[in-house]
Amino acid sequence: MFLNFFFATITIAAAQNALPNDFLRCQQRDSKINDCLKKAVPDALRRMKDGIPSLSVPPLEPLLVSGMNIESGAGPVVITQIYKAIKMHGLTDSILTYYKADLKHYRLRTDSITPKLEFIADYVMKGRILVLPIQGKGVANITMVNLVVKHDLIGEPVVRDGETYMHIKDYKVKFVPGKVYLHFTNLFNGDKRLGDQMNIFLNENSDLVFNELKAAYEESLSSVFKTVTNLIFDKVPMKHIFTED
Ligand SMILES: *[C@@H]1O[C@H](CO)[C@@H](O)[C@H](O)[C@H]1NC(C)=O
Repeated sequence: MFLNFFFATITIAAAQNALPNDFLRCQQRDSKINDCLKKAVPDALRRMKDGIPSLSVPPLEPLLVSGMNIESGAGPVVITQIYKAIKMHGLTDSILTYYKADLKHYRLRTDSITPKLEFIADYVMKGRILVLPIQGKGVANITMVNLVVKHDLIGEPVVRDGETYMHIKDYKVKFVPGKVYLHFTNLFNGDKRLGDQMNIFLNENSDLVFNELKAAYEESLSSVFKTVTNLIFDKVPMKHIFTED
C-alpha cells in the first residue's frame, strides 16, 4: 500500500517533467537529427496551440504578450511606441527550413518561415516619420507575410538532482519579412482623413518603417521565445527532449 503510493507519486512527478507522449522525439546520436528536428519542432508547435498545462506552457495560439515599449532613436523614424495586451496569431503555422543542432556545445540554430504572423495590440505612439509627425492611441495591426525568422539558441548545461537540463541563456532572433502590412486605428485623435493618409503612407514605406522598428520587435520576441523554450527545457531533462537511444 505504502509502496504503491510511493510509486504513484514518482510516476506523477516524472510525468510532469516529461514532454507529452504524442510529441515526436529525436535521438541525440542519430546522424539525421537535424532532419528529425525539422519535423518534430513544428509538430510540437502545433500541439502547443492550447499550451501544455503540466509544464505551465501558455497557449501559443494566440500567444499573449503583456507589453512592449519601443524607443526608436535617431534616423528617419523617431517614434515612441507602447504596446499592451499583445496577441500574436500564426506562429504555430511555422515550418522549419533549416535546423542545426550542436548538442555537445548546447547550441541550436534554425530558420523558420511563418506564412502570416498577425500582431494585434493596443498602442500609444508619438513621434515622426521622415518629416511627418505621427501620434495616436488605439489598436495596431502589424501583419508580416512570409516572415523568415533566424533563431540562434545558446544554451548551457544545468545539473539538478543528477539530471542535465539544457538552459537557454541567450536566444537571438533575426526577422526577414516578405511583406509587412501596418494599420493603426484612431491616429491623430480619431481624425479620419489624417489617419487614413498616414496608414497609406506607412504601407507605402513599410520597408523603411519596419526596418527602423525591427530591432525592437526582434528583442521583444527573442525574450518571449526564450521564456517559452526555457519553460520546457528547464523542466524536462535534456535526455527526454533529445533521447539517448
Ligand atoms: C490585420 O491585417 C491583415 C493584413 O491587412 C488582415 O488580413 C487581417 O484581417 C487584420 N486583422 C485584424 C484582426 O484586423
